[in-house]
Amino acid sequence: MAGNITFTMIKPDAVKNGHIGAILNHITSAGYNIVAMKYTKLSKEKAGEFYAVHKERPFYGELVDFMSSGPIVAAVLSKDNAVEDFRTLIGSTNPAEAAEGTVRKLYATSIGENAVHGSDSDENAQIEANFHFAATEMF
Ligand code: CMP
Repeated sequence: MAGNITFTMIKPDAVKNGHIGAILNHITSAGYNIVAMKYTKLSKEKAGEFYAVHKERPFYGELVDFMSSGPIVAAVLSKDNAVEDFRTLIGSTNPAEAAEGTVRKLYATSIGENAVHGSDSDENAQIEANFHFAATEMF
């Protein structure tokens, strides 16, 4: 499985705006298999831990508040070239710069509330998957 998984979250904005089904359809239509999935809500502490790499950034507090503001869908996905292809599927971090047809272009409202997360490397995909799921929850 190494190299073929990515981790995603459908963020609180996209959940609140009713886009879970549409986003999952984009993901499975692009050929991803679901390895693990849960509907959950991050505590402030968990969100802070997940985004610890951004701790020194000016938007860190805002990011943690937002990511713990409502339910999310967390999932591990598999496919060849999972990380890179997923980043193409979701588009640029800033939806204003995202390509037409990408998930963020279609469903995100701002750079902070950008509908979905996607891992940025194979190593981080594994770390993020293990952060959210036990080995017995990944199939
Ligand atoms: P994500 O892919 O989940 O990883 C880090 C997140 O930080 C990113 O998506 C954005 O939601 C958020 N982010 C990045 N840059 C900014 C910014 N300038 N202002 C607010 N949030 C940001």
